[in-house]
Amino acid sequence: MSNNVTRRKFLATAGATASGFLCLPGDALGQPGSVRTRRSVFSLTAPIADYRTGVGVMKTRSATDPTSWIYQANMHGTYTAPPAGALWNQCQHGSFFFLSWHRMYLYFFERIVRKACGNNAFALPYWNYTSQTLSARQLPLAFRQPTFNSSPNPLYDAARNTGINSTANPAALSYSATLFSTAFGYTNFASAGGSGASFGGQTLAAPAHFAGPHGQLESQPHDIIHGLLGGSGDMGDPNRAARDPIFWLHHANIDRLWKRWLQQGGGRVNPTANNAWMTHEFEFYDENGHKVKLKGSDVLNTVTQLQYRYDDDPVTFGPAAFAVSAEAAPPKKENPVESVAVAEQQGIALGTRPVRVAVTLKEPAKKAVARALGAAAVAADNPITLHLDDVAFDKQPGIYYEVYLNVPADEDNPEFHNGHFVGNLGFFAKTHEPAAGADPHAAMTDGGAKQSHVFDITGLVRELSAEKKWDPEKATITFIPRGLEDSDGHPLEIKTDAKIKVGKVSFQSTKE
Ligand code: C2O
Repeated sequence: MSNNVTRRKFLATAGATASGFLCLPGDALGQPGSVRTRRSVFSLTAPIADYRTGVGVMKTRSATDPTSWIYQANMHGTYTAPPAGALWNQCQHGSFFFLSWHRMYLYFFERIVRKACGNNAFALPYWNYTSQTLSARQLPLAFRQPTFNSSPNPLYDAARNTGINSTANPAALSYSATLFSTAFGYTNFASAGGSGASFGGQTLAAPAHFAGPHGQLESQPHDIIHGLLGGSGDMGDPNRAARDPIFWLHHANIDRLWKRWLQQGGGRVNPTANNAWMTHEFEFYDENGHKVKLKGSDVLNTVTQLQYRYDDDPVTFGPAAFAVSAEAAPPKKENPVESVAVAEQQGIALGTRPVRVAVTLKEPAKKAVARALGAAAVAADNPITLHLDDVAFDKQPGIYYEVYLNVPADEDNPEFHNGHFVGNLGFFAKTHEPAAGADPHAAMTDGGAKQSHVFDITGLVRELSAEKKWDPEKATITFIPRGLEDSDGHPLEIKTDAKIKVGKVSFQSTKE
């Protein structure tokens, strides 16, 4: 119960669209150095026309121009071999650099669009898709129209998932795909190397283009949204995603959620004690095509350091309101205890139908569960986590899976608010196409494609136990495939020929 209440509270706080935005001094004037506001794409004052103009101008520039559309997209990732010295294939996935690198990337992209569109007040809009309202979960109309004023629409991308671009009957993201409550439940920004049990991702000593496991916000909603919007097209593939103009509004929203997470307090702070995160310099190009550098310590405060804010940032302003929250609480210890597997099940193939996995709890598992069911403080120090390891897939399936614990056997269409929901499993990572005729699963053993996911289920196990829905001998994990919805909110048929395999499902807890 408490778990669900908490999740709803987070949704109410952070998912709400801002009404009544405020103007900071200079905002409307757009003078250099003034603070610009990134607005919801649904706001009447969102600068869609400027964005369309700016993207159109960038698309006319040659690929060798660092301020061109294609060069900027290739900085994220590309299958094209980079010319010598090109800043391509830089995106940071699967580590605590994910949020900071994408913030920097958006910052310079925004400056390039600002200059290209000629409006000095321009700031990127963001797409807040976390909404019970179906239309908010449909791709905004300006991105779905193939033409605008009888010319090709620069914001249109034909390579999107089936139904996304429909103007008559646009597909919508399922509501559960847009949830960020799981990520917001984590109070630690970073986790130890190898662990995704944190809001922002695992700690690394140096940047890595494609690492894993993904942190919690990156896993959901970030990865899930990529897969649903893109399918086998651009957004589903990190090497093509930034070619879709919606990429930048998706990431502005992820960047906004980072701020909303910090705002929750409760020990949530940036990893300012980590030297690599604070001092590693990433390279970009500014709007004049000059090479520039930013590091983590440069992007802690969007207002004072980067001169932008979101329209739902706290209304109070002044130095104190935007102070770096690192001073507020000491950084948390990153995974102080060693995890051990207490029960597991191997080799699960996922497809277009629900899959139930039975897990037998042996002696060490029972002890771990007993600790988690005991005093709250003991449980907090001995969390039970569900691990999905060696998750392999040969291509972006364009769907995701809701993961449930102990759903009754006759329930084949559970709802995420049924008190059994663990989280979502999505697929946004480097994939490896198998060679012609080869066993696709064999090809997927290549390290780049295998992912791990971790879910903290301590609270859920406590709830289920209190409701007498917990069996100390055995548990079930259920994977429910989910895709897009039609414009009436009914699920569209789940279709994919992707080969997906979860190598290992396990419960883990701390060593005794
Ligand atoms: Cu670097 Cu949403 O991806």
